[in-house]
Amino acid sequence: MNLGVELTYLLSSVLFILGLRGLSSAATARRGMNLAAVGMLLAVIGTLLNQQIITFTWIIIGGIVGSVIGAAMAIFMPMTAMPQRIALSHAFGALAATLVGVEKYYRLGAEIGAAKMAAVGFEVMFGSLTVTGSLMAFGKLQELVKGAPITYPLQNHTNIALFVATFAMFVYLIVDPSNATVFYVMIASGLAIGVLMVLPIGGADMPVVVSLLNSYAGLAASATGFALENNVLIIAGALDGASGFLLSILMSRAMNRSFTNVIFGAFGGGAEAAIAGKDATGLTVRQITLEDAAVQLSYARSVVVVPGYGMAVAQAQHQVRELAEEIQKRGGDVTYAIHPVAGRMPGHMNVLLAEANIPYDHLLDMEDVNPRFTETDVVLVIGANDVVNPAARNDKSSPIYGMPILDVDRAKSVIVFKRSMNPGFAGIENLLFYEPKTSMLFGDAKSSLTKLVAEMKNAA
Ligand code: TAP
Repeated sequence: MNLGVELTYLLSSVLFILGLRGLSSAATARRGMNLAAVGMLLAVIGTLLNQQIITFTWIIIGGIVGSVIGAAMAIFMPMTAMPQRIALSHAFGALAATLVGVEKYYRLGAEIGAAKMAAVGFEVMFGSLTVTGSLMAFGKLQELVKGAPITYPLQNHTNIALFVATFAMFVYLIVDPSNATVFYVMIASGLAIGVLMVLPIGGADMPVVVSLLNSYAGLAASATGFALENNVLIIAGALDGASGFLLSILMSRAMNRSFTNVIFGAFGGGAEAAIAGKDATGLTVRQITLEDAAVQLSYARSVVVVPGYGMAVAQAQHQVRELAEEIQKRGGDVTYAIHPVAGRMPGHMNVLLAEANIPYDHLLDMEDVNPRFTETDVVLVIGANDVVNPAARNDKSSPIYGMPILDVDRAKSVIVFKRSMNPGFAGIENLLFYEPKTSMLFGDAKSSLTKLVAEMKNAA
């Protein structure tokens, strides 16, 4: 063991932990990412100092190819495509872990021994299913694969049976590592599990899946660490595994859905509309003109903006900031209410609002903002739907009943920016839109906000 290398690894592990801690709040997230990036640089340097390296040729080629791909993804993939970018990174990480495992087995064969076989077997089993699972998640998010759940009879049973068979092969190999056919069949069925596991999950649930696959990639990396006797890989993999798993559970909880419902429930894609308890037959909506909206906002003392997935689709965050500035110029107070699952990935709204230079301290979490709505003059719902649906509070037959929501219906008035009466992700009616205090401003959020800002400027 080289003391310098191990100390570098230790420092890099500490930086990973501090990085994760930084990610727990929007204000420290950027610093957290930087610390984790320095940690990764140290881990790479430590690995390059390893005296067992015979030649650097392939390492340099790999480093150049990896850096070019990574830089291109960072520069050219838009912020709204972040979930699929992360899914692709997991696929690459898991592919690397799987290939390392295959190389170890190929080289050592029956001589590998039970302990190392356990580490390598675990690595390739989780690695291979993460490769194809992440590619499927990427395909669904990028709309290359049908986003709606793809289901067929006995699907969950088939998937579970395949997983049990794969696990049995893993156990068999620990007892008898000499059977190479079983090893490669195990990889093939791992690859099949990845595809079959993700098929029945709706496109909008992909962030939970990506986070779960993140945790699998972490476990595979940790096992790689055992196989290679590399401490930083063991620690980083374990941190990745645990944080990815926790994040998937937190996301499911914020949607008030059990983790198993997300993974096995084939949710999303509009099927739920049929089972929603209330419908809006006979109710009418009130539309508001740009002029009326501008007048209302000019006199409002307290305004809360509720951003949702539609703001991300429209890329309307800069126009939201411009509107807020106009309201503030007239003495109104503007804050932003952030629902934990607004949009399609954790922190989605925080990232977009930060991109538009909206200060973190104007963003309020659901628990902090909910008691304020009764005192709020105008709520601007920008492309949000499910996260403001009162059915989650009042309608026991609703599929989202019990999901914590932003209580915007308790404000004095609400203006909703959306293009039509179409439902959001959960595919259900939202009676908020039919309430007498609610006005609809139909159209693409970016274009409506641009016109509204111009209207306010003209009226000034
Ligand atoms: P949604 O309920 O999905 O509603 C988005 C609304 O935006 C739609 O009603 C749509 O109506 C509108 N919209 C779309 N494009 C628009 C545009 N260009 N301009 C204006 N409006 C537009 O969004 P939400 O309230 O943010 O809720 C998020 C949902 O996603 C929740 O059900 C949540 O459980 C789920 N989910 C979230 C996550 C995470 S981690 N955030 C992960 C998985 C699932 P129109 O088509 O009429 O315009």
